[in-house]
Amino acid sequence: MQGTMIKVFSVLAAVLLASSPLFAQMEPAFATSRSEVEFFENNLRPIFAVECAGCHGAQLQMADLNLTTAEGFFKGSSRGAIVDPERPAESVLLQVVEQQGKVKMPPTGPLSSEKLQALREWVENGALWPSDDSAAVVAPSDGAKPGLWAFQPVQDHEPPTVIDQDWVRTPIDRFILAKLEEQGIQPSAPAEKLQLLRRAKFDLHGLPPSEQEIEEFLSDTAPEAMARLVDRLLASPRYGEKWGRHWLDVARYADSTGLDEDYRLPHSWRYRDYVVDAFNRDLPFDQFVREQLAGDLMPADEPGEITREASSPPAFWRWGSSHWRSKTRCRLFTTSWTNSLIRCRRPSWA
Ligand code: HEC
Repeated sequence: MQGTMIKVFSVLAAVLLASSPLFAQMEPAFATSRSEVEFFENNLRPIFAVECAGCHGAQLQMADLNLTTAEGFFKGSSRGAIVDPERPAESVLLQVVEQQGKVKMPPTGPLSSEKLQALREWVENGALWPSDDSAAVVAPSDGAKPGLWAFQPVQDHEPPTVIDQDWVRTPIDRFILAKLEEQGIQPSAPAEKLQLLRRAKFDLHGLPPSEQEIEEFLSDTAPEAMARLVDRLLASPRYGEKWGRHWLDVARYADSTGLDEDYRLPHSWRYRDYVVDAFNRDLPFDQFVREQLAGDLMPADEPGEITREASSPPAFWRWGSSHWRSKTRCRLFTTSWTNSLIRCRRPSWA
């Protein structure tokens, strides 16, 4: 059906084009501000990608028109420019989508009024196209530099040299002391044992120490008492509960979809338990990422078995209001894993 239709249109196009005069190409007009780029990426690119690219895209350029790149757009169709900068309201592009003349686009029926409105607004504001189409794939969010940390390979760094060698107990101390020395700041005096215990407890479990823990720790005078305490706290299930919570916030974990519908998600806890457990098992980070994005596609340990990793983590995609809007979900994905925004080519209304 689709194939036949495309053939009919190409024949039609060929006939019509053979008899058409050639018009000039349009001067490219580029979006410069962030809001112009966002308007295009959120409203225009989705229309071109979903409604037009099948016939005016990389594979097929009916009427010699490619609506998926700035270059193709400004070149126009085989009849020339499709936007008239002098009289934007009368542009060929608007005439065909508003289906006023013989050529009606898309041929399958008119666009929704929302999309038509976006197209009209965009054309009347000068049809500004982002200058760099590759930026449509990854665009670091405000303030992010091209060398954003999230895209850097992991590297070894030599611990810096310091003056006060005696203060250093582990190589990490060198990084701290080097900065302090650089700023001319004296390190603080070592903390009291009780302070240390409270810090370790709040940091690893989010809870104050119990009376019994205080007694035990204060009476343990061995030099390795602190290391023993930290090992015990790391081994406790409380550790995953405290640290898993931070990830659950990032992933927008909730027991309902939020907003006005607020549907219940009665199995949310499965994902919550998975995250807590991942911290307690010390699951390697790369595995944690893979399981949450595509756990359902990963092989099970036993044939036919549905593993926990396989069944719950793609729930990452389902949280809160992101459940309903692919755009929000796309944003959640990119902000939580890479601290950057990837513009979504899906329509903003989907
Ligand atoms: C099913 C294929 C198909 C789809 C989808 C499609 N077009 Fe077309 N388009 C054509 C054909 C074929 C022509 C040539 C028709 C003609 O000249 O009569 C054409 C021509 C055009 C022209 C050139 C008109 C001119 O006179 O120069 C514009 C502009 C255009 N299309 C815009 C769009 C837009 C915008 C969309 C998406 C909203 C779209 N088209 C979707 C097949 C398609």
